[in-house]
Amino acid sequence: MTHPTRSFDHAGASVLVFGDAHAAGVAAAVAIASAIRSAVAARGKAVLGLATGATPEPVYAALVEMYRSAGLSFAEVSTYNLDEYYPMGPLDLQSYRSYMHRHLFGHVDLAANRAHILDGTVPEAFAARHAADFDRWIWADGGLDLQLLGVGRNGHIGFNEPVDLPTGEALSLPTRMVDLHPTTRADAGKDFGGEDLVPRRALTMGIAPILAARSILVLAFGPSKADAVARSLSGPVTSTVPGSLLRSAPGRVTWMIDEAAAAGLG
Ligand code: GLP
Repeated sequence: MTHPTRSFDHAGASVLVFGDAHAAGVAAAVAIASAIRSAVAARGKAVLGLATGATPEPVYAALVEMYRSAGLSFAEVSTYNLDEYYPMGPLDLQSYRSYMHRHLFGHVDLAANRAHILDGTVPEAFAARHAADFDRWIWADGGLDLQLLGVGRNGHIGFNEPVDLPTGEALSLPTRMVDLHPTTRADAGKDFGGEDLVPRRALTMGIAPILAARSILVLAFGPSKADAVARSLSGPVTSTVPGSLLRSAPGRVTWMIDEAAAAGLG
């Protein structure tokens, strides 16, 4: 079952509400497979922005299943992940590089030199240059056909945390090093064996390259995301709720959420 139980337009975005996370995950995988096929047909390649966290796990499971039994190929796909902790070794269990290997890269025919993740081992003095290069790689690859996103409980997207900035400046934020918000570090504590062990910084794709994607698919599941979903879709467009900045891309954003995450939408 990949059909939403209900759908509506809200503040320029399309909102699809599903019975559970699994159904939404399968629907997201179907949308990603369709984006891959049409980009490959049109340009000979597809460029995806990918996300980590618990939320996209059912999406990757469904994509791997489609690779194994439905003829979906990643041979002409390039991927750019949203973020990585800093510092972080690629083989560390908590790295997003190893997460992506476990959930997707290790199971499909995606070329290793087309699976791009910000490098948590880059020397600190070169981190800014590495982040700027990452944006140039995306641009040189023709831009993102589709960006997959989750949302943090505090409304963050990628690791673009709530900050107090004029909206125009927030919309222009490039890929860069950031300090992690206390809520983000508290939530990540379960993966690191305690909040104190969570890195204090991360590299994140910026708001500008996320918003430049030709389509954006945002997933959110469970009651803990209801407030972030409601504040992203209603109320002011503000850097203090990074998810609300997605309203600057009307017509290009689809939210796939469950009933619990939709609870605050009225
Ligand atoms: C993490 C990631 C985000 C993710 C979010 C939600 O910290 N950096 O990209 O979307 O927080 O995570 P989860 O899906 O586990 O709730």
